[in-house]
Amino acid sequence: MSIMTKLALAAGLATALSSGVLAQDISGRVIGFSQIGSESGWRAAETSLTRQEAEARGVDLRFADAQQKQENQIRAIRGFIAQGVDAILVAPVVATGWEDVLSEAQEAEIPVVLLDRGIEASEDLYLTAVMSDQVLEGRVAGEWLVETVGSEECKVVELQGTVGSSPAISRKQGFEEAIAGASNISIIRSQTGDFTRSKGKEVMEGFLKAENGGADICAVYAHNDDMAVGAIQAIKDAGLKPGTDILVVSIDAVPDIFTAIAAGEANATVELTPNMAGPAFDALGAYWADGTEPEKFIITESRLYTAADDPQGEYERRKDLGY
Ligand code: AHR
Repeated sequence: MSIMTKLALAAGLATALSSGVLAQDISGRVIGFSQIGSESGWRAAETSLTRQEAEARGVDLRFADAQQKQENQIRAIRGFIAQGVDAILVAPVVATGWEDVLSEAQEAEIPVVLLDRGIEASEDLYLTAVMSDQVLEGRVAGEWLVETVGSEECKVVELQGTVGSSPAISRKQGFEEAIAGASNISIIRSQTGDFTRSKGKEVMEGFLKAENGGADICAVYAHNDDMAVGAIQAIKDAGLKPGTDILVVSIDAVPDIFTAIAAGEANATVELTPNMAGPAFDALGAYWADGTEPEKFIITESRLYTAADDPQGEYERRKDLGY
């Protein structure tokens, strides 16, 4: 075993011990990863943490960037099956349309782990899904708004994630559930910004024009921070103060949103950890070691951050994590 491999294994062990789980040795395993693309800062961090986790554990990671297209993901998964990989990680861009390709993986006896997004298909088709409770994320954002505006009337514009993706569906649902009991709060416009900064800005510009230059908008709820950052720019360009004239609440907790919160230009974010691969590799290790079946859903934490939570410090803690 080379010194580099030994160091990588030691680093992997340290990671596992610090997370309280003794990771099984999965060095030498070949694992395919079908990633969605690079639409957001959060996605970039997930990609780089997955590569780091793989390297630390001595895994040969085969990476495929789908550039937001499900057909590219299906092609990549078929390619991994043909290569005879030991396992497949997939971050599914949309929730439907996975039965055929995942059945092919199952027939080839290759375990599949979903990362960060869910699918509408039989749970038998994947070993586990490492993801957040995406309905809860929306609910946490909505509850923050309900508490913050009190009895004031509040018209909300919503920037949705990618159409048909599990976070777009569930974060919308959770937020609507949270505001359902507050008759003073209503969503007046809702449109997809595809989880990107540029589309978030573009859609927000349309909302501002349509709503009296923004005078009629009390808050923007964005399904991710990147769209919120785009919206903040649009609000500033319209001559309004984001964070004050229009409240901004979103999801991910990327470094840039903490910069905006520290500057008073955003108000709240719900954290989504980008380290989905660590728990996924732990689950695969235990499964390969003695057949341990992991929980079907390994759910990560959804914590709310506001200006009261040392945004500058949170920025510093995250800035070198690959966002
Ligand atoms: O699936 C997770 C979501 O996908 C993140 O919130 C978003 O930033 C990303 O594009």
